[in-house]
Amino acid sequence: MSSKQPGGHPGPDGLAIETAGLVKTFGENRAVDGVDLTVPAGTVYGLLGPNGAGKTTTVKMLATLLRPDGGEAHVFGHDVVREADAVRTRVSLTGQYASVDEDLTGTENLVLLARLTGHGKKASYARAEQLLTAFGLAEAAGRQVKNYSGGMRRRIDIAASILNTPDLLFLDEPTTGLDPRSRNQVWDIVRAVVAQGTTVLLTTQYLDEADQLAARIAVIDKGRVIAEGTKGELKASVGAGSVHVRLRDAARREEAARLLGLALAAQVQLEPDPVALTARVGDGGRGAEEAAAEKASRALAELARAGIVVDNFSLGQPSLDEVFLALTDQPLDPHQDREEAEAAL
Ligand SMILES: Nc1ncnc2c1ncn2[C@@H]1O[C@H](COP(=O)(O)OP(=O)(O)OP(=O)(O)O)[C@@H](O)[C@H]1O
Ligand SMILES: [Mg+2]
Repeated sequence: MSSKQPGGHPGPDGLAIETAGLVKTFGENRAVDGVDLTVPAGTVYGLLGPNGAGKTTTVKMLATLLRPDGGEAHVFGHDVVREADAVRTRVSLTGQYASVDEDLTGTENLVLLARLTGHGKKASYARAEQLLTAFGLAEAAGRQVKNYSGGMRRRIDIAASILNTPDLLFLDEPTTGLDPRSRNQVWDIVRAVVAQGTTVLLTTQYLDEADQLAARIAVIDKGRVIAEGTKGELKASVGAGSVHVRLRDAARREEAARLLGLALAAQVQLEPDPVALTARVGDGGRGAEEAAAEKASRALAELARAGIVVDNFSLGQPSLDEVFLALTDQPLDPHQDREEAEAAL
């Protein structure tokens, strides 16, 4: 992908987004309840949270599509209410439910958008072709978008939103419902967009997505930011490490859980995978990593003594899933009912 202009002129302080006490209420519901965000320019910033957390509402306020009921938000130094026009020239939004025309072909959609934003006919066709090629859609260029697969659809949505290289791109759950291969393709596109200098605000319910793409992450729940930092900081705040064990024999799991619990002096969690167990060890303090490693090896020895075969064992930093669990006492379940989520919009 190439761009006409080098994107990403940061605000006066190098920030793409800064909010203070941002609030949006719908009746009694404080959908966004005092959100403070600081997003450095030129990076991917992840807003991670479950259904109804307030991610889309936050994005809509930043994109000037919804008026805040309280607090302030600046995009590249411009107030989203008082200087909404200035903000609009710098941002682009790929919505959760995006907006290309189903009846038009890929080429027609992109050309139409390019013409609408002031490009000449020839330049519009050239830009459309360039983007369709870059997004692996050259073969589908002449087909109506309604006949695209979910992954192709998501790619054309993103292509449409970066037609005029924006300084800030909002990607609202860009990979929800996509298969692993299509998700990887979208991730590559996001990386390419950022390499061009665009700042990306990415909302996601997927921990691995935030983990893969985002430099910093804000965990948002019930309209509030409950944790913020780099991935490493978020993980370290939860504990020294996490022991993951996969057994040969699912029938031995209860027994293994008991032995591990004793040896690690930790709560052991049974994973959805019937042979998998996880336990958090250590409190993240000094020397905690060595202590955790020592405990883990003792625990393994216990399992071996009991004749329980371990197929796979790892001691690593906790996953973002575990971070969420530790912060909210609730698992972050990305496979929640989509219908409920859609009804919530
Ligand atoms: N236009 C609206 N009118 C009334 N309530 C709304 C509106 N938009 C959002 N809400 C409510 O605000 C809350 C936050 O919704 P929001 O769409 O921002 O969540 P989200 O984090 O994007 O969730 P999801 O992951 O399901 O997309 C929810 O309780 C939702 O029902
Ligand atoms: Mg949403």
